[in-house]
Amino acid sequence: MSEKGATYRAIRLERIAPSFREGCEIVDLPSREPGPGEIRVRNRFCGINGIFDTQIARDAVDYVKIALPTFTGVEAIGVVEAIGEGVREFAVGDAAVSVRFTGGYREENTAPASAFVKAPAPTREYLALSSTGVSAMVALERIGELKDGETVAISAAAGGLGHFLVQLAVLRGCHVVGVAGGPEKCAFVKSLGAARVIDYKSEDVAEVLGREYHNALDVAVDTVSGKIHDAFLANLANHGRLVVGGAAADLEGKPEIVTAPRIANSIYYKGASVRGFMNGLLTPYWDDARERLFALYEDGKLKACIDEARFTGIEGIYDGVERLLSGRSSGKVIVDLVEAT
Ligand SMILES: NC(=O)c1ccc[n+]([C@@H]2O[C@H](COP(=O)([O-])OP(=O)(O)OC[C@H]3O[C@@H](n4cnc5c(N)ncnc54)[C@H](OP(=O)(O)O)[C@@H]3O)[C@@H](O)[C@H]2O)c1
Repeated sequence: MSEKGATYRAIRLERIAPSFREGCEIVDLPSREPGPGEIRVRNRFCGINGIFDTQIARDAVDYVKIALPTFTGVEAIGVVEAIGEGVREFAVGDAAVSVRFTGGYREENTAPASAFVKAPAPTREYLALSSTGVSAMVALERIGELKDGETVAISAAAGGLGHFLVQLAVLRGCHVVGVAGGPEKCAFVKSLGAARVIDYKSEDVAEVLGREYHNALDVAVDTVSGKIHDAFLANLANHGRLVVGGAAADLEGKPEIVTAPRIANSIYYKGASVRGFMNGLLTPYWDDARERLFALYEDGKLKACIDEARFTGIEGIYDGVERLLSGRSSGKVIVDLVEAT
């Protein structure tokens, strides 16, 4: 039973604004007992998706219709503290993960049991695997149609999504070319098994790929867009697949005028393709991906790397978002929702 009059805190988007922090408020909400089919989860950690959060605050995410105010955040992991009538999938004390929009940036979540998945323990690593890990696996397998031993290019390769993409491709015996900003992040990507890492801050990605990987990329996963997208597209192999999974460069907000040949010219003679990756449209594959990711992690074959910056409490989420946007993070940015006592 929750204490009578108990409350918890969550981040709510109150207004459309240029940044997440400016658009949001921290609100107190009443705790409630779970109804039939519901569980109540006390969250321990939440995962930061700073680019998505910023675009949500700007009302610039095409596929999410915002009715203000709206709760925010996607993924959190915690412990089940109460279950409603008829719930069989969870017991009090289980670790439960939410991977759906509005389930992330909150200390407590009472919702249908079907909105959560079970994890072996309420840790940062299982949170990262359940959310971003699943995105990486599904993007590579279902959209990239990755085959063993292929040559794979990955942008933002040191990031939350990128570090999983690199490792999963390496595990398939692929030759991985990572792109990241700065020597530390590049060394990190190399340590994950990438064969070549391009530091776009000191090297020209188009020039390096043209020289070392001309028409050699079987799969390229890009979440940055702009010049990196162009360089990946120009160097696809015959039957190469360019997976578009994000457009971080769009955050800059400057409209880009593109005066280039139509895409037909880049793909026709190679039988290549450009494919959109949207994890939310691939839910039938999530359970299987999560199970395999947990097994790889538990067997010591896959690392879930967490960014070294530590943020605590609901207020820490704003700092986590800004850390991710700074481009300085490596691995998944995670906030500890439980204040140290
Ligand atoms: N389509 C989907 O279903 C799906 C699912 C999950 C994530 N995503 C996308 O995947 C991307 C990575 O997400 P993540 O949460 O794991 O983030 P992240 O990669 O941990 O952090 C973002 C990274 O993007 C790079 N970047 C390039 N231009 C940037 C800019 N203008 N502002 C900020 N960062 C920039 C930076 O690395 P470098 O400087 O090293 O390049 C930065 O570290 C995001 O674009 C996200 O929206 C898409």
